[in-house]
Amino acid sequence: MGADLKERYAQALADPPVAPPATSLSSLVLGLVKPYWTWLAIIFLAMLAETGMSLATPWPLKVIIDNVIGNEPLPHWLLWVEDLPLGRHNMELAAVAASAMVLFNALGGLASYTNNYFTESVAQYVANDLRRRMYHHLLRLSLSYYDTHQVGKLLSTITSDVSTIQDFASETLLNILIDALTIIGILSLMFYLNWDFTLMAVSVSPFILLFIIRFKKAVKAATHEVRKDQAEMVAVLQQGLESIRAINAYGRQDLEEDRLKQVSLETVEAALRARKIKSIVSPVVTILVSFCTAFVLWRGASLVLAGVMTIGALTVFLSYLSKFFSPIKDLAKMTTNIAQAMVALERIQQILETDIIIHQKPNARNPGKLKGNIVFENVTFSYADNLPVLHNISLLIQAGQHVGICGPTGSGKSTIASLIPRFYDPDAGRILIDGTDVRDFTLEGLRMQIGFVLQETVLIYGSIQENIAYGRPEATAAEIIEAAKRANAHDFICRFPKGYHTLVGERGMTLSGGERQRIGIARAIVRNSPILILDEPTASLDTEAERSVLEALENLMRGRTVITITHRLRTICHADKIFVIREGVVAEEGTHEELLQAGKLYSELYQLQDRKAVTINGSPHDTRVKP
Ligand SMILES: Nc1ncnc2c1ncn2[C@@H]1O[C@H](COP(=O)(O)OP(=O)(O)OP(=O)(O)O)[C@@H](O)[C@H]1O
Ligand SMILES: [Mg+2]
Repeated sequence: MGADLKERYAQALADPPVAPPATSLSSLVLGLVKPYWTWLAIIFLAMLAETGMSLATPWPLKVIIDNVIGNEPLPHWLLWVEDLPLGRHNMELAAVAASAMVLFNALGGLASYTNNYFTESVAQYVANDLRRRMYHHLLRLSLSYYDTHQVGKLLSTITSDVSTIQDFASETLLNILIDALTIIGILSLMFYLNWDFTLMAVSVSPFILLFIIRFKKAVKAATHEVRKDQAEMVAVLQQGLESIRAINAYGRQDLEEDRLKQVSLETVEAALRARKIKSIVSPVVTILVSFCTAFVLWRGASLVLAGVMTIGALTVFLSYLSKFFSPIKDLAKMTTNIAQAMVALERIQQILETDIIIHQKPNARNPGKLKGNIVFENVTFSYADNLPVLHNISLLIQAGQHVGICGPTGSGKSTIASLIPRFYDPDAGRILIDGTDVRDFTLEGLRMQIGFVLQETVLIYGSIQENIAYGRPEATAAEIIEAAKRANAHDFICRFPKGYHTLVGERGMTLSGGERQRIGIARAIVRNSPILILDEPTASLDTEAERSVLEALENLMRGRTVITITHRLRTICHADKIFVIREGVVAEEGTHEELLQAGKLYSELYQLQDRKAVTINGSPHDTRVKP
């Protein structure tokens, strides 16, 4: 058992959790349990044994009452007891009955242990597979998915909905199967014992079942509502805690608390509405059942008095009757669990079915080391339908060139940059690198060839060393230090008591903006990709920090194709070519001098910045770097 589990554990670690997309709920479930069919077979056998033992336990009692205490003749299948060397006939029988009781219970217990152990294993591993499959899928969805979906709600599905499935599989599912088997077994035995009583019991059952089915729908709808509100609550919490700085800065704690108060109350109300519906099921079923049992008691008493039925048979029958109705009552209660599990599955499936993926062609090839010749051919792109952000953009960037992109805010500069690594795909036109459409490359290979330094470097929770190596995990410690030196980051890193092993908080908040940017640059140096995209890397920095970062950037840019997006025109005035973007089109292109001479948008923007520099510093010569 242990070895089997260990093996499964190793497999669970090694297997990529990819599976064919699930088209229906049942195929999703089948796909999930398929790898565990041997365990399921063991569970099934153990279940048969457990049910059999549970059916057998009332029989010793019957034997004691009818054959030991009473004077009924022994049934033919018990005649062998008379040959046992146990002394007095009646006590022999009692001993056999008593031992049988222990034996049945012991075997039942063993079967139940096996059942529980393997069921829990299946449940845990199915949950493990589900979590990994969803995370695997989510990590590969196009960024546009995240433009419209709240992370908090996704988190809620990965955690809560998966654990609902896990609980269902480990507790309810097995019980349902055992109950179903028990009902079948008991029915046959009851028919054998007394068919007209049995018909009584059976006649009530359809009403109970109808009632249960009728309610399942209502319970499911209510559960959907509860889960929606719960997910909303996680989303509010997640957003609130993530924006803790803004909340503090604007003193909006009360506002955020109110937001939580509202969704939290909604959750409570939805849960109570659901509970109201769920609570009806159990009492109604209990009342129906008690009518049936009362009738059997009343009629049984008269049959025993008339000598048609033995007391033992009535006892066994009553015990069976309660055994028969207990799973039916359970099933009624489990309707709730079934509804919850189905809701959870549907929510999981919704994520797994999402197909907003940047598709990789089946014959995509790894680009290897690119030179960095980038061409945009009539590229049109929109985030939302019918709202183009880029119109017919054509750009030509030669390998090794340093180009600048500028233009008013919201004109589409960052959008242009995000199309190169295929964060999004254009609606029309194409993007070529070294003459090949980027869609012909493997995504991973393409992205490996591109380095980024963005306006704000997001650091992951971990050490500075891990953060620098994030772009290329196999980088050696020496390479990391070398990169940090070239990024002007080595000195400040060494000032921390733990140096490169200093932990940076979530999103790197424990570092200053300039420090974070230099870590970002070191990260790009380590990645050593031929194409580099700099999207306002110094926008958030003061002059001093900017100088240090610019110096670091110069080290980074050498020998690469670099696209610098910036509002500070003096940082790109030495560029080989400058593109001016306005409202999603290339308004102008050329070198700094050509654009100044043309006297259009660029020269206007430049004069404007120049004048600002004069007003701020009193003299244009203080800040302006002459071309
Ligand atoms: N993820 C998104 N979903 C929908 N619309 C977006 C998204 N990102 C940007 N936009 C819109 O696309 C347009 C271009 O945005 P983009 O970020 O490319 O501008 P930008 O030129 O980089 O501006 P800035 O100089 O302020 O950084 C804007 O109108 C913006 O509102
Ligand atoms: Mg931008």
